[in-house]
Amino acid sequence: MRAHANPTPALETRGLTIRFGGHVAVNAVSCAFRPGELTCIVGPNGAGKTTYFNLISGQLPPTAGQILLNGEDVTRMPVSAKTRRGIGRAFQLTSLFPNLPVLENVRLAVQAHQHRGLDLFSVWSSHRAIREEALACLERVALTDKRNQPVASLSHGDQRKLEVAILLALKPRIFMFDEPTAGMSVDEVPVILDLIHEIKQDTSKTVLLVEHKMDVVRSLADRIIVLHNGTLMADGDPAEVIASPIVQQAYLGTAEVVTEAAPEVAHG
Ligand SMILES: Nc1ncnc2c1ncn2[C@@H]1O[C@H](COP(=O)(O)OP(=O)(O)OP(=O)(O)O)[C@@H](O)[C@H]1O
Ligand SMILES: [Mg+2]
Repeated sequence: MRAHANPTPALETRGLTIRFGGHVAVNAVSCAFRPGELTCIVGPNGAGKTTYFNLISGQLPPTAGQILLNGEDVTRMPVSAKTRRGIGRAFQLTSLFPNLPVLENVRLAVQAHQHRGLDLFSVWSSHRAIREEALACLERVALTDKRNQPVASLSHGDQRKLEVAILLALKPRIFMFDEPTAGMSVDEVPVILDLIHEIKQDTSKTVLLVEHKMDVVRSLADRIIVLHNGTLMADGDPAEVIASPIVQQAYLGTAEVVTEAAPEVAHG
């Protein structure tokens, strides 16, 4: 476990809840996330992991509860305001410009972060710096050689890498990754996992990672929280959470049960 020098959580949800009709997708989730900590969020399909992210980033308005960013209540703020305050969610590709080259898309994100979109003079004066920063983001996700291709022509894996490059361009304080390697080929996966590992070394950053692959969870998590039916079921040290019988039996599947502290099985 890491020591937490800063007692104020970077991000906190208090009683965060959303109902869809009669269905409570996220149910009174109270949880605090600190700088320098990577928290993996696990749980079965439909547990509410993505919905929890959608609430935090502002894509969905909560039915009840609060979201605090460095102690400030941001519960009702729109996505743009939360992004400006440092909440970084990988962009959906639908919000990119599919016919523009890869580099242009990242450049626009760098520019947006610098709030220079409407100031023509500063755009020109910093044109080279913006381009270099965009190239650096592409380099970190190993997309440099695709920089001149239109986004629409990228493979699924490369599009996901581009999402991460754009996230980097926005320089968030809170990184939210929702199954970042889903759909990637085996040789693409390490690029993203190494990058997340690198981000996690920066003790000013807070990382939330939704991940189904337990080997990834084991290698990256400082802490694991478990969601089930929208409810926070477990929260703590990775080894303890993974070994807990409730997680072993109900949420991680039998393939994981044998690896650590296998529970006693009564044969009858
Ligand atoms: N906009 C919506 N309208 C109605 N129901 C929704 C909406 N978004 C999510 N849900 C429901 O909320 C529940 C939680 O879904 P969510 O996508 O958050 O699960 P998840 O934990 O991310 O699952 P997975 O591991 O499959 O990605 C599901 O029952 C889902 O059908
Ligand atoms: Mg999901």
